[in-house]
Amino acid sequence: MTRCPAASRTGDRGARVGAVTRTTESLTPELYEYLVAQGAPLDDVLADLVEETARLFPASKGMQIGPEQGTFTTLLTRISGARSAVEIGTFTGYSSICLARGLPEDGTLLALDVSDEWTSVARRYWERAGVSDKVELRLGPALESLRALPAEPRFDLAFIDADKEGYIGYWEELVPRMRPGGILLADNTLSHGRVVDASETSDHVQGIRDFNAHLVADDRVTQVLLPIGDGLTLARKK
Ligand SMILES: C[S@@+](CC[C@H](N)C(=O)[O-])C[C@H]1O[C@@H](n2cnc3c(N)ncnc32)[C@H](O)[C@@H]1O
Repeated sequence: MTRCPAASRTGDRGARVGAVTRTTESLTPELYEYLVAQGAPLDDVLADLVEETARLFPASKGMQIGPEQGTFTTLLTRISGARSAVEIGTFTGYSSICLARGLPEDGTLLALDVSDEWTSVARRYWERAGVSDKVELRLGPALESLRALPAEPRFDLAFIDADKEGYIGYWEELVPRMRPGGILLADNTLSHGRVVDASETSDHVQGIRDFNAHLVADDRVTQVLLPIGDGLTLARKK
């Protein structure tokens, strides 16, 4: 693999220090299976949702967040005390259920997506999970839905998991609408390792590289890229 120069442009000193301290473990399939088994067990609702999604939409394999990421999302939502959350990219509802479960009874999740077909599955599973009262779905391009919201801070937590070329646009609409101390999560920020492969020139990988560099330069937040799933960036608005 030819190493992508963009990878060494950002966070240079931290990367050099990281190379001589302790690095994150590489996960073999066996180690990943072990890791998942040490987390909270998957309940019937989420297990059925994964199976039904695979059956209905086989071409969309890999769209849902993984079980450890789901549990992490629920825990983080709960630990943070978030009451108002927004999700960009709902698909069939896995991550939205994980977010909604972390919210209090009177908490709200605004779920944004373009697909009526995919989110119709989500609606059924929100009912089954007992979270449908917390979730409001808005269909349409997420950038337009975000721009139509009042400009003042209202969200405690945001989760971005839609088209990768759109991440910077979502970020710029979200940050001003986050309360101080609010948490932003962005999924797929390692692009299966392709972010550091210079031969990888697709728009979605370049979208993620640009997004990651955008965050490094953004002093409104403190952020870390976690090696969970396909890379999960966790940021806190100052
Ligand atoms: C990777 S999937 C989300 C998976 C979901 N978070 C989960 O865990 O099940 C990406 C979703 O983003 C949606 N999407 C793509 N482009 C979009 C856009 N411009 N506006 C809103 N949603 C979009 C797709 O319809 C799809 O449902």
